[in-house]
Amino acid sequence: MKILRTKEAVNSELSILKNNQISIGFVPTMGALHDGHLDLIKKAKLYSDYVVVSIFINPTQFNNAEDFAKYPQTLDKDMELLDKTGVDYLFLPELEEIYPNKPRLKMLFEGLDNTLEGEFRPGHFSGVGIVVAKLLNIVKPHIAFFGQKDLQQVAIIRQLVADLSMDVKIISLPTVREGSGLALSSRNMRLSEKEKEKALIIIHSLSFGKSELLSGKDWLSTREEIKEKFTVQDIKLEYFELVNSHTMDKLEKIDHTIPSSICIAAYIGKVRLIDNITVTED
Ligand code: PAF
Repeated sequence: MKILRTKEAVNSELSILKNNQISIGFVPTMGALHDGHLDLIKKAKLYSDYVVVSIFINPTQFNNAEDFAKYPQTLDKDMELLDKTGVDYLFLPELEEIYPNKPRLKMLFEGLDNTLEGEFRPGHFSGVGIVVAKLLNIVKPHIAFFGQKDLQQVAIIRQLVADLSMDVKIISLPTVREGSGLALSSRNMRLSEKEKEKALIIIHSLSFGKSELLSGKDWLSTREEIKEKFTVQDIKLEYFELVNSHTMDKLEKIDHTIPSSICIAAYIGKVRLIDNITVTED
């Protein structure tokens, strides 16, 4: 695996490949890699001739200084994993390479970014949009891969690519889970074993919500029931919403003609986790 640290290095390595009609698959990450990332990389290898992974902890998408400071960093282990998985290039830029100046740009994704994560993490999707646009401009891949655990992020990146007429195909892949059902996330590294057990309330609530909806139960009372469970266990629930999986519009009942998902964000101790479950497919 070759490590590229600058835009120029990426450009000189990859432009030769692209000129020879070699396809590039790209998996942007913030490191602290887990099997969810490796799943994206394996798919990227299947769909493209060469695979580029980036590791960059993007400060502009953190609205909370402590979350940024405590974001897990496991670079040596990550590089070993990437090498073993057969990644061709690791783009590993320093902060100044991506942000030579503090960007004045703010991105708004009308209608997509004012609920769920957007509501609780102001500025988050502007930061995601800016860094993903920068990374896609630098790597210029044919295909880029993202995980469905970040459902709203996927919707925003699809919109970004469409609105900026970027010539890249976006593929999103299902969430990878532990045997217990806990969605894999870099933030899980900050959970104790006890907290990991406590965190199962997230997937249990999603599964319960889905089965209640599919058996015709009323959504608003199901949501109240779930909220009550979090209150009783003294777990901070930020949201538990049924939404259109593409537009992120909140729904008040199941509609089998609309692709829908239940999305959740909750704090397990000091760690904020998000997850979602598909209720009705496309
Ligand atoms: O999903 C992530 O890890 C990040 O939001 C991304 C897409 C790498 C942008 O920093």
